[in-house]
Amino acid sequence: MCQNHGVAYIKPGEVEIQEIEYPKLALGDRKCEHGVILKIVSTNICGSDQHMVRGRTTAPAGLVLGHEITGIVIEAGRDVEFIKMGDLVSVPFNIACGRCRNCKVGQTGICLNVNPARPGAAYGYVDMGGWVGGQAEYVMVPYADFNLLKFPDKDQGMAYIKDLTLLSDIFPTGFHGAVMAGVGPGSIVYVAGAGPVGLACAASCHLLGAAVVIVGDMIQERLDQAKSFGCEVIDLTKDTPLEQAIAAIVGVPEVDCFVDCVGFEARGHGSNAGTEMPATVLNTAMAVTRAGGAIGIPGLYVTGDPGAKDKAAQEGSLSIRIGLGWAKSHSFYTGQCPVMKYHRSLMNAILYDKIKIAKAVNVEVITLQDAPRGYKDFDKGAAKKFVIDPHNMIMN
Ligand SMILES: NC(=O)c1ccc[n+]([C@@H]2O[C@H](COP(=O)([O-])OP(=O)(O)OC[C@H]3O[C@@H](n4cnc5c(N)ncnc54)[C@H](O)[C@@H]3O)[C@@H](O)[C@H]2O)c1
Ligand SMILES: [Zn+2]
Ligand SMILES: [Zn+2]
Repeated sequence: MCQNHGVAYIKPGEVEIQEIEYPKLALGDRKCEHGVILKIVSTNICGSDQHMVRGRTTAPAGLVLGHEITGIVIEAGRDVEFIKMGDLVSVPFNIACGRCRNCKVGQTGICLNVNPARPGAAYGYVDMGGWVGGQAEYVMVPYADFNLLKFPDKDQGMAYIKDLTLLSDIFPTGFHGAVMAGVGPGSIVYVAGAGPVGLACAASCHLLGAAVVIVGDMIQERLDQAKSFGCEVIDLTKDTPLEQAIAAIVGVPEVDCFVDCVGFEARGHGSNAGTEMPATVLNTAMAVTRAGGAIGIPGLYVTGDPGAKDKAAQEGSLSIRIGLGWAKSHSFYTGQCPVMKYHRSLMNAILYDKIKIAKAVNVEVITLQDAPRGYKDFDKGAAKKFVIDPHNMIMN
């Protein structure tokens, strides 16, 4: 019997490497004939995991984390027809059946059949269907033919693995945020947040042909990272109003496109830079986006936040000035990124050297044993995307 180890959430601020069950090709009592078992090659730590690890969700102790998975197929159910043993594959973080009305139109982030509690599921995530996470050595993936993206060549795949590992979530997520904000050739864009999603979004804006990409954050190291690939930056610890800071860069106090890569744990600007203000990015978006502009919101907002200061925010109700957005005819787009919509074309952008996404988000590869350190450094605001290498296949 193979062994398996994974990263488990213990309590706020603490994760631990535990021996966990080796995955079975099963859904409850039923054999999962459409599923595969993967030997995991790389599995990334995400800002979304941090919401749980900071105690800002109702994640239970013992939850095995991890939804950003790339691996090799080592076992396949009877009904898996097109994915083969030995394939090197990227797993979209959204689990999707491929059979429901939403999957059929490409809305795989809100699949109706994979989570009894609500539309949409993910591996290793609170309220997301109870699927075991993939910050581990092995994981089970259902509906394998539909979900998995096979890399065309294994050796080439391993040569580009630090980039390709980002296809399971943050590269498509950042790209989707940009697309939903209407970014195209010549756009002037503001990206709120210089975490891995914000950086992936900013790099995606360049790929889409934006004229100016402005990134705002309070962490200098992350802003420097954005600068390293040609972004303009705004240091939000300064008191200068955002409109003024934007005008200093592009001559007018507004942008065409705005992407929120922060979410509900947002902090204020200037003297409020240390204070949580969950609606601030959404309100800023309406203030600085031009009339008729669009706002992409990949940043996560929750239906329950036990750590929120006021009662309304504890239920996910935020005070947003919707009247302003209405008056400016803004469009908004929220929700999980439907990874599958983008992962094949973004894979090609990587393999044909159109983008250096691992460099943009500053990938650091670590061992599974080192994952707790990765969580801590990431929480402190390191300008890095931590990629766990559970079988030492990348480092060796
Ligand atoms: N929609 C999706 O499918 C999807 C997928 C992945 C991640 N996410 C979400 O995207 C968000 C970002 O992820 P990440 O991994 O980059 O997280 P992160 O926590 O590393 O980055 C967030 C950054 O925002 C900065 N910030 C805080 N307040 C700000 C403000 N008012 N203005 C600008 N910047 C501010 C922080 O300093 C931090 O650097 C998270 O909410 C995550 O859950 C969503
Ligand atoms: Zn993620
Ligand atoms: Zn579905």
